[in-house]
Amino acid sequence: MKNKWAIILGCSTGHGAAISKQLASEGYGIIGFHLDRGPIKKQAQALEKEIHSLNEGKVKFWNENAADKETMLIRVQEIKSLIKDGYVKLLMHSIAFGSTTNFFQPSPVKQRQMDMTQHVMAHCLIYWAQALLDEGLLLKGSRVLGLTSEGSYKAMEGYGPVGVSKASLEAVVRQIGWELGNKGITANTIQAGITATRALTKISDNWEEWVEETKKRNPMKRLTTPEDVAGLVSLLMSDKADFINCSTIFCDGGEHRSI
Ligand SMILES: NC(=O)c1ccc[n+]([C@@H]2O[C@H](COP(=O)([O-])OP(=O)(O)OC[C@H]3O[C@@H](n4cnc5c(N)ncnc54)[C@H](O)[C@@H]3O)[C@@H](O)[C@H]2O)c1
Repeated sequence: MKNKWAIILGCSTGHGAAISKQLASEGYGIIGFHLDRGPIKKQAQALEKEIHSLNEGKVKFWNENAADKETMLIRVQEIKSLIKDGYVKLLMHSIAFGSTTNFFQPSPVKQRQMDMTQHVMAHCLIYWAQALLDEGLLLKGSRVLGLTSEGSYKAMEGYGPVGVSKASLEAVVRQIGWELGNKGITANTIQAGITATRALTKISDNWEEWVEETKKRNPMKRLTTPEDVAGLVSLLMSDKADFINCSTIFCDGGEHRSI
C-alpha cells in the first residue's frame, strides 16, 4: 500500500465510522472529523485508538466543525505535513447535521436553518475539494464521495431542509466529477437505504415504525448497515472503478425500487 489517506468528514459513528474502520484495515491512513460531546466523544476517542491498532498508527481525528472554512484551511496545511509524500485517495462526506423540520407547519423552517443545512451537508464539500486540489493532495485516482438518500427526490415529513441538501450534494458531486474528471479524479454519491444510525433517530420520533416498514418494503427484508456502505466504498477505491464518475450508486438492497 502506497501512502494513501482517506479524509472522512463525519467519522465517529454510523457510515463514517464503518468506512474509517474498513479502509484502515486495508492500510489506508485515516483523517477524521466529527462533532460530538459526552459519551459519543468518548466513543470517537475509542474508535481513533482502534484504528491506530489497525493501520500502524496512521490516524488523526479532530472533534470540530468540518464545515467551518477557516478551520478547514488550517487543517489542510496540517494534513499536508501529516501525510508527507502521500496523497488523499478519498475525500468522503458522511456528515449528518441539519434542521429536521417542514417548510410550513408545525414549525416553519427559518432561512438561517436552510442556509446552515445546505452549507454543512453539501456546499462545504466544494471548499474541501478546492483546498485539497490547490495543495496537490488530490491526484489521479482520487475519489470524492458523498452519501445521499431517497429524500433527495422524495418529500418526507420533517426532511425538508435535509432533502434539499441531498439534492444539492448530488449536484455538487456531479459538478466536481465533471470538472476534475480530466485529471482522473472522480466524484460520486452513494445512495444508502434506511440505516439504523444516530442520524435516523433524529429525523423522526416514529423512526422505529419507519424501520419496521422498511424491513417489509426492502426486497432483501432488512435495513442497510454501515458495513454494507463501507464495503461499497472499499470497492470504489479499486483502480477497476476509475471510470465511474458523476454517478449515484445505490447501496440499499433494492429499496429504492420498491413502493
Ligand atoms: N442513516 C440513514 O438512514 C442514512 C441513509 C442515507 C444517507 N445517510 C447519510 O449518511 C451520512 C452519515 O449519516 P449517519 O447515518 O452515519 O449518521 P451518524 O449520526 O451516525 O453520523 C454523523 C457523523 O457526522 C458528524 N458530524 C455532524 N456534524 C458535523 C460537523 N459540523 N462537522 C464534522 N462532523 C460532523 C458526527 O460527529 C458523526 O460522526 C449523512 O449524510 C446521512 O444523511 C444516512
